[in-house]
Amino acid sequence: MSRARLGVLVSGSGSNLQALLDACASDGFPAEVACVVSNVPTAYALERARAAGVPAVVVDHKALASKADFERALLGVLREARVEWVCLAGFMRLLSADFLGQFPGRVLNIHPSLLPAFPGLHAQRQALERGVKVTGCTVHFVDAGTDTGPIIGQAAVPVLPDDDEKSLSARILAEEHRLYPLAVRLAVTGQVSLDGARTRVAAQATTGELALRSPGAPK
Ligand code: GAR
Repeated sequence: MSRARLGVLVSGSGSNLQALLDACASDGFPAEVACVVSNVPTAYALERARAAGVPAVVVDHKALASKADFERALLGVLREARVEWVCLAGFMRLLSADFLGQFPGRVLNIHPSLLPAFPGLHAQRQALERGVKVTGCTVHFVDAGTDTGPIIGQAAVPVLPDDDEKSLSARILAEEHRLYPLAVRLAVTGQVSLDGARTRVAAQATTGELALRSPGAPK
């Protein structure tokens, strides 16, 4: 079976990109990273892509006159690489409904909170400020809102009394790296589908892994 071609959009360190690259390099994974696009020319994620032998392209929004120009350039790169699915991995730009319409039901994002709590920027800081005891990460389909699209999977982590943004982010990131490849696998194999504001996961899929799991909780 041919593998789904992913375009991964990044803005920063790219540790989630790395998790996807590693998953794609493992036996039997149903997807491959066809290209990586960063809107930030200095993003470390670009190095990770090159090290994995994946085309790494910069589309710098600051160098383009408008959001429409930015998205046109982005779309050109993704089309050229024959991308079928788009994965946002620490990509810090909002995409328009027009752009999303080019990949209907095929744009995924990972966010470092248990959505719908704490959308937008600095989700970990928001969680600390609000004093929640549990937070986590979410993989969801992208719609035109900010972190509002149908949820595919979530993983929970505790917030500990001494946490700062750095320690909490690291604990969440470890779960992101596990959850994102799992969600991509289910999405590209058609085991998760859109159903209005939510998703349905096929009965044979490992749904338990999509709703996880404070360390120490029963596996
Ligand atoms: C991750 O925590 C990701 O969930 C978050 O940015 C970080 C990127 O790290 N994304 C968002 O906040 C999007 N709203 P990475 O570059 O190491 O993957």
